[in-house]
Amino acid sequence: MKKVLMALAMTSVLFGAPNGAGTDHRTMLMKDMRTMLDAMEQIQRGGLYSSSDDMKAGVKKLQGTLKTLESEEIKFILPKDQVYAYKFAQKTAHMLRMYSDDMIASIEAGRMDDALEDYTQLLKQCTSCHIRIRNW
Ligand code: HEC
Repeated sequence: MKKVLMALAMTSVLFGAPNGAGTDHRTMLMKDMRTMLDAMEQIQRGGLYSSSDDMKAGVKKLQGTLKTLESEEIKFILPKDQVYAYKFAQKTAHMLRMYSDDMIASIEAGRMDDALEDYTQLLKQCTSCHIRIRNW
């Protein structure tokens, strides 16, 4: 019972309770990041199980988060001391859109080698931003 209450309390921390605008934006952005990870996993699974439907669903899921990545909203999780960070974010968002569009086209044309190449390029955008911005 205690555990259930704890879980409920956690959920309201994660999804409810307005904690001030900054935190809220940050929470939403981090949720988008996890959605992107979900999407990438779905694309990969689709590729491994030869399910083009799964792959396409994953790409659509990924594209659903790009609006935020492309907008000024992203500034909430970017470091303030890196002036180029926002420009870089826009560039990676643009690349993610381009390669995900290309991936749909490749899947529909049955060109799985091209689709795989697109996947590699997508993943590269994630890591490239993480390495730069998170200072890993
Ligand atoms: C424009 C930069 C940028 C791009 C592109 C980007 N991310 Fe992120 N991501 C971030 C930042 C910044 C953080 C973490 C901020 C922090 O730790 O304070 C983050 C955090 C994450 C997290 C951790 C979330 C959490 O709850 O801790 C995951 C998962 C993630 N990103 C997945 C992805 C995936 C998958 C992609 C590519 C499809 C991607 N990201 C592309 C900037 C980016």
